[in-house]
Amino acid sequence: MSRAAGRFITLEGGEGAGKSTQIARLKEFLEKRGRAVVTTREPGGAPGAEMVRKLLVEGPAERWDGVTEALLHFAARREHLRSTVWPALKRGDWVVSDRFADSTMAYQGYGHGIDRALLDKLYGIAVGDFRPDLTLILDLPIEAGLARASARRGNETRYESLPLEFHERVRRGFLDIAAAEPDRCAVIDATSDVDAVASAIGNAVVQRLQV
Ligand code: TMP
Repeated sequence: MSRAAGRFITLEGGEGAGKSTQIARLKEFLEKRGRAVVTTREPGGAPGAEMVRKLLVEGPAERWDGVTEALLHFAARREHLRSTVWPALKRGDWVVSDRFADSTMAYQGYGHGIDRALLDKLYGIAVGDFRPDLTLILDLPIEAGLARASARRGNETRYESLPLEFHERVRRGFLDIAAAEPDRCAVIDATSDVDAVASAIGNAVVQRLQV
C-alpha cells in the first residue's frame, strides 16, 4: 500500500509490561500534538481478528502447537491490517498497536522454537513489505511482569500459564530483535514508574518520528 502521512507505532513486551496504560498515555501525547490517533491491539483489533484472539488466549496451553499458533496469529494480523490499520493510515491517522509481528517472533519463534525462516515466510504472505515506523519494546524482569499480569486477568491465562523459561526466552527474543533493528526499535525500561516510562516513550517518538 502507499504510505500516507500517518505513522504505525507498535508497543511490544512480555506479560504485564504496562503496555495498555502506556498506549493511553501515548494517544494523549500525540493528540496534543494535533495527530488523529487510532489505538488497537493484537491478537484482535477488528471483529474477525477478535474472534481468532479468543482461540489463542483462552484454554489450556497445549491446545495448539507453535506452528498452528503462528498461523492463527498471522491470520488475525492480516484481518487486523485489512480492516483497521491500513484504512486508518490511508486516512492519515496515526495507529498505535498493542503488539504486532515482533510478538510472533518472540513468543512463537524464541518461546516455542519455531523456525525464523517459516515466520518470515508467513510475514511475507500475510503482511507483505509493510513494517511499523517505530516499535517500542517495554522491557522488565519476567517475574515482575507475570505478577502484574496475573493480578488483572480473567479467562486470558493461556500464555501466562507457560513456564518461566518460556517467558525468559520471549524477553531475550524481544531484546535480540531490538538489537538487530535499532533504527526501527527502541527499548524502554518498564521497571520505572508510569510517568517516567511515558516520558521515555514520548522522547523516543519525538526523536525518531519528528512529531
Ligand atoms: P496481550 O496479553 O498483550 O493482550 O496478548 C495476548 C497474548 O498473546 C500474550 O500472551 C502474547 C501472545 N501473542 C503471541 O504469542 N504471538 C503474537 O503474535 C501476539 C500478537 C500475541
